[in-house]
Amino acid sequence: MSSAKTDIATPMANLKVNGKTVDMPVRSGTVGPDVIDVGRLYKETGCFNYDPGFTSTANCSSRITYIDGDAGMLLHRGYPIDQLAEQSNFLEVCYLLLHGELPNAAEYEEFMLGITRHTMLHEQMTRFYTGFRRDAHPMAVMCGVVGALSAFYHDSTDINDPEQRTIAARRLIAKMPTIAAMAYKYSVGQPFIYPRNDLDFSANFLQMCFAVPCGPYTVDPVISRALDRIFILHADHEQNASTSTVRLAGSSGANPFACIAAGIACLWGPAHGGANEAALNMLNEIGTVDRIPEYIKKAKDKTSGFRLMGFGHRVYKNYDPRAKVMQKTCHEVLDALGTRDEPLLQVAMELERIALEDDYFVEKKLYPNIDFYSGITLRAIGFPVEMFTVLFAVARTVGWVAQWKEMIEDPEQRIGRPRQLYIGAPVRNYVPFSNRG
Ligand code: CMC
Repeated sequence: MSSAKTDIATPMANLKVNGKTVDMPVRSGTVGPDVIDVGRLYKETGCFNYDPGFTSTANCSSRITYIDGDAGMLLHRGYPIDQLAEQSNFLEVCYLLLHGELPNAAEYEEFMLGITRHTMLHEQMTRFYTGFRRDAHPMAVMCGVVGALSAFYHDSTDINDPEQRTIAARRLIAKMPTIAAMAYKYSVGQPFIYPRNDLDFSANFLQMCFAVPCGPYTVDPVISRALDRIFILHADHEQNASTSTVRLAGSSGANPFACIAAGIACLWGPAHGGANEAALNMLNEIGTVDRIPEYIKKAKDKTSGFRLMGFGHRVYKNYDPRAKVMQKTCHEVLDALGTRDEPLLQVAMELERIALEDDYFVEKKLYPNIDFYSGITLRAIGFPVEMFTVLFAVARTVGWVAQWKEMIEDPEQRIGRPRQLYIGAPVRNYVPFSNRG
């Protein structure tokens, strides 16, 4: 294939298939790689594009998030993630992702109140929880309860009504922490704690998780700020697996609550959001610094089936910029709690040091990702490992919702329907039982 500029306005890529040359437009974004629009490929050549795992396939155009994986850069609406993590707060980032611009003071106030007023769950929904086993994984509970939202909020399921889309978006962002905290409370056998409108997003989440009715609960501002930053770091990450799942589910016209439940199911996997839980479990298993070489060796051995969890990324071929902020946040939290000598932190830091000097990891450009330090931080705050991916889901909800809204509002949007390379049996006649060997 060659790329040639056939006229000034539309650069074209030429593809020669079976002796026929087809021209396909090359489209440019504001930054980042161009794309070759292969939409007419099948019509013109009878061939499909084959790209398992979408390593070279863009499925949409988007204005929300940009990643430069080689530079280790992540921008939301153009703003670098480290600036947002340092200077903004989670709700402001939610507004930015949803609306495209930072809010002025009045817009922020209106948005914040809109979220705060939607934090309570329909009381009847609390009864779902008792249907789950106490030892159910909270992500299983999240899939069920979030999917059930569409059975309760009928006035925000019409995807063609912009007002209803906005209400659904706010409901999801607002109710997700309540649903998550209730999943945690149910698992530890404690009563549900209702949201408090006088607290900010992260402080309210902490009190819903850790307060009990029999005594006062004071939110530690250092911890609540750290959690807020963790939420910012997880808020969106362009077309990752769960976001693409939400877009695909939404492309059929399904309601937003159902789509987000699909995103939660996808996030659960250990190659995606489940990696934070898997990374902490791995650090626990390693246990002490002297055992690190054994695990590095195992991670390099393809027959072991073992990977260093919290390492590597499809897009980042450099240090994940979120991991840098997360590492700093981890130190801040451990300092604030007086647990700086936490043995797992020593294991993590030494593991990172050794891996970053090892030829295997250097050559494959495998760096720590966001999940490497998040587990240690969340555990220090008091969350059990099963809750880690749940917290990821709480934060990512805004990204899912913003991407879902963008898709619905995109005039190019069509139902997502990938094609395949069929390698099964060709047509054959049915054979009755009596004639089968
Ligand atoms: N440990 C050891 N080897 C690895 C690792 C790892 N963590 N990650 C990738 N590799 C190797 C892999 O074996 C392959 O080697 P080769 O080229 O010799 O076959 C090469 O690096 C490329 O890996 P890949 O599987 O083709 O890359 P991918 O883009 O399909 O997968 C990934 C990306 C994140 C799933 C993978 O790096 C991984 O499994 N990491 C561990 C799980 C993890 O931490 N996931 C969290 C991702 S960040 C949070 C999020 O966005 O969800």
